[in-house]
Amino acid sequence: MKLFMAPLQGYTDAPYRLFHTEVFGGADGCFSPFLRWEKGEPARRTMRDILSPLNAETAGFVPQIIFRDAEEMRRLAGALKAEGFDRVDLNMGCPFPPQVAKGRGAGFLLRREEMEKVAAYVAEDSSVSYSLKMRLGVDDPWQWRDVVSVLRKMPLEHVTIHPRTAREQYRGDLHLDRFEELASAVGKPVVFNGEIHTPGELEEVAGRWPWLHGVMAGRGLLGRPSLFREWRDGQEWDDRRRLEGLLRLHGLLWGHYRGVLCGEAQLLSRMKSFWYYALLPHRQLKRIAKARSAADYEAAVRELSV
Ligand SMILES: Cc1cc2nc3c(=O)[nH]c(=O)nc-3n(C[C@H](O)[C@H](O)[C@H](O)COP(=O)(O)O)c2cc1C
Repeated sequence: MKLFMAPLQGYTDAPYRLFHTEVFGGADGCFSPFLRWEKGEPARRTMRDILSPLNAETAGFVPQIIFRDAEEMRRLAGALKAEGFDRVDLNMGCPFPPQVAKGRGAGFLLRREEMEKVAAYVAEDSSVSYSLKMRLGVDDPWQWRDVVSVLRKMPLEHVTIHPRTAREQYRGDLHLDRFEELASAVGKPVVFNGEIHTPGELEEVAGRWPWLHGVMAGRGLLGRPSLFREWRDGQEWDDRRRLEGLLRLHGLLWGHYRGVLCGEAQLLSRMKSFWYYALLPHRQLKRIAKARSAADYEAAVRELSV
């Protein structure tokens, strides 16, 4: 079973992906946060992340695109092809209301006609292999049924399914029955994505659905970056070892961003997001969150203990 790091805008950028590979390894692949069409060109900031030389050293890096119609999809895929990419992930899962309202992300699941055009393009495009990441629907966990026959026609490496609707955002129970139905109907290798936080949960999913092509983890992996490594080792790490790993990853990111970000405010804002999903006592994280200078911040991190 393959293991994938989920894309999280603002968290899993090129330095994070590379340093995670260096410190823990364990992931077979990782995806860029979505690239979208912005002011007549692929969004510059995301494109810089996708073209970062750091990606060359990162396990199985794949850029992801989000689009509202086949034309936008063609342009974005074309821009990536022009940069030499032969692997692209299609975002049909983003639940962010402004994107969904414009028909992007999960909103694309309601655009069957455009999806037919994307399917035709994907089928004809022999220079790129595609994968796709999706939710069950926008506001109804059955909506995938209207487009599953189109998805079946697309030659895809795999389909990643987060079994919630866009309206459910990132909370609440997963629709596991609907996941199984979609997984069997879609006729592609399937990657499960949602609420995997511990090696035990990973094991449970692997045992429950032995036919899975893979599992993708997002917030659980950010909170416990050793998650995949622990599962592969077949043994959970104790709290001390997990914290040591987290601090090594942090040290590499701190060193990197100190060299490339301008100004303390920008540096602190990026580094504070590193701790957002961390599984550490609230009182310890509070001091980090409150730090107003690099010196305060470093002191707060030095105080972390298990
Ligand atoms: C802050 C944030 C940013 C995200 N950005 C993206 C993105 O750019 N592309 C994408 O496909 N999913 C994105 N996601 C969704 C995650 O990849 C993943 O599907 C979701 O967090 C559920 O998995 P998890 O329960 O393992 O976290 C984002 C999620 C969050 C919370």
